[in-house]
Amino acid sequence: MGIQIAPSILSADFANLERDILAVADADWLHVDVMDGHFVPNLTLGLPVVQRIAEVSPLPIDAHLMIEDPDRWAPRYAEAGAASVTFHLEAAADPRAIAADLRSLGARASCAIKPGTPVEDVLPLLDTLDMVLVMTVEPGFGGQEFMEGMMPKLRALRAASDAAGRDLWIQTDGGIARATIATVVEAGCDIVVAGSAIYGAADRAAEIASLRDLAQAVDHR
Ligand code: DX5
Ligand code: ZN
Repeated sequence: MGIQIAPSILSADFANLERDILAVADADWLHVDVMDGHFVPNLTLGLPVVQRIAEVSPLPIDAHLMIEDPDRWAPRYAEAGAASVTFHLEAAADPRAIAADLRSLGARASCAIKPGTPVEDVLPLLDTLDMVLVMTVEPGFGGQEFMEGMMPKLRALRAASDAAGRDLWIQTDGGIARATIATVVEAGCDIVVAGSAIYGAADRAAEIASLRDLAQAVDHR
């Protein structure tokens, strides 16, 4: 499988959400940012909206939960139709239990770490996870500057999952665009989130194709 692209609808037009979801149908996943105004200082959308998005989206839903109490809420997003559910390690009381709940509901289990969270904190959980999201901005807002200093986390995750013989996906989110996508792919990223880069482009399909080409050019796996 090549590098996967997950457009973030955080940069879409929320008054024309279905139109903007269909505009990125050439991608691999639809990245949906759920923010609760507590875990991050921004508020987006919740369960009923994710459920409708899952019903109209031709792409599987990659739900990124920037919320408190994921122990309670993450499984509900799997039930709402998200094929992959990412909870934040910093907010989780029992991350192993959350991951087990997600898998038992048929979703891919994924855990995210903020820029200030050491990668060592997530390494002991890899056997329970299908994906780790390494944030390359502080979560909360689109259009921020990419943090290249996160690349050692990607390399450590790639080495640990290879050593364990696991097919762990590594995702990066924040500041990914034409200028930065090669950097994350070279560091071991499998699935790239891009919000403002894709939705800020006049031709979203062409932008997805450009990102894919740039990723494939440096993908030596
Ligand atoms: C930020 C969100 C991202 C956001 C990325 O907290 O998790 O998914 O949409 O936006 P860009 O790609 O513009 O940095
Ligand atoms: Zn996100």
